[in-house]
Amino acid sequence: MRRIVLLGVLLLLIFASLAEARIKVSGKGYLMNFDPASIPDHLKVSYDIMSRKCVLCHTLERTVIAVQTGRAPITGQPFDRQAVKAYGIKMLNKSNSDMNRQEIKEIVMLLNYLVDENSR
Ligand code: HEC
Repeated sequence: MRRIVLLGVLLLLIFASLAEARIKVSGKGYLMNFDPASIPDHLKVSYDIMSRKCVLCHTLERTVIAVQTGRAPITGQPFDRQAVKAYGIKMLNKSNSDMNRQEIKEIVMLLNYLVDENSR
């Protein structure tokens, strides 16, 4: 019995530390976004651009899930640093994307930071 309790406590501690490493998320469904409090000052501008530009065709839920799980939710492809850049360019090249290269650069910087934070 004591062993089981100890194991439970250990598992809880492991989960708690995993949860700690993750970037926090705010809102649900179409309101989902990374918690602004988790964004460092030097990336606030990127966060602002992403929150305005990456919601024109779909909500940020896709992007949040990709970062949190390490998998792009539709195709199931890995979502790592390399993928972040490729997806940035893919989204930029979509017709009516209403974004420019500089904005994609900012967003890629932010997503790289978030991917790194979540994989620590
Ligand atoms: C012009 C419309 C448009 C804009 C703007 C747009 N997306 Fe997308 N996005 C799509 C479409 C359409 C898909 C469906 C799958 C595909 O074509 O890749 C998609 C899919 C995705 C996926 C899932 C890909 C997969 O393989 O599962 C992610 C992540 C994503 N978008 C992130 C972003 C980010 C980040 C931005 C802002 C830089 C953005 N999107 C802006 C149209 C857009």
